[in-house]
Amino acid sequence: AEAQSHLQTIIARHIDREGPLLPILHDIQADWGMIPEDAQPILAKALGITRAEVYGVVSFYHDFRDHPTAPHVLRLCRAESCQSMGADELADQICKALGIGWHETTPDGRLTLEPVFCLGLCACAPSAELDGKLIGRANAAKIGRLVAEVRA
Ligand code: FES
Repeated sequence: AEAQSHLQTIIARHIDREGPLLPILHDIQADWGMIPEDAQPILAKALGITRAEVYGVVSFYHDFRDHPTAPHVLRLCRAESCQSMGADELADQICKALGIGWHETTPDGRLTLEPVFCLGLCACAPSAELDGKLIGRANAAKIGRLVAEVRA
C-alpha cells in the first residue's frame, strides 16, 4: 500500500505535463531501481494508455528495466570493432558459461548481463566492462576469472 501511494505521488507529479510517461518512468526507476511489473497497469490506467504501450516504452529504453539490477553488471560491447574481433562468439561463450541471455540475471541474483554499444576501447577489441571497470582484449577465460572474483 505504501508503494502504491508513492506511485500515485509520482504520477500526480507529472500527469499534467505533456508526455508524462517518460518523466514518471524516470522517477520510478530512480526510486525503485526498476519499473516493477505490477506498476505498469496502474500507469496505463492513470495515463489512459494501454499496458502494451507502457511495456513498449519500458522495454525500448535500456535505462529502464522491469527486473532488479544485480549487484554486479557485466557489459559486453556489441559494436562494430568488437564484432569484427569476435564479440559475437565471445558473447555466446559468456551466455553459455553464465547460463543467461542479454538483460538477464544469474539465478543467484548476483550478476546481470547487458549489451553495450562501444566502450571506447575499440583498439583493444573485443571489450567488456565489469562493474564499471573496462576489460580490453577480452576472452571468455579472462572474463570468467574476473566474474568469479566479484561473485565470490
Ligand atoms: Fe567495442 Fe568500440 S566497438 S569498444
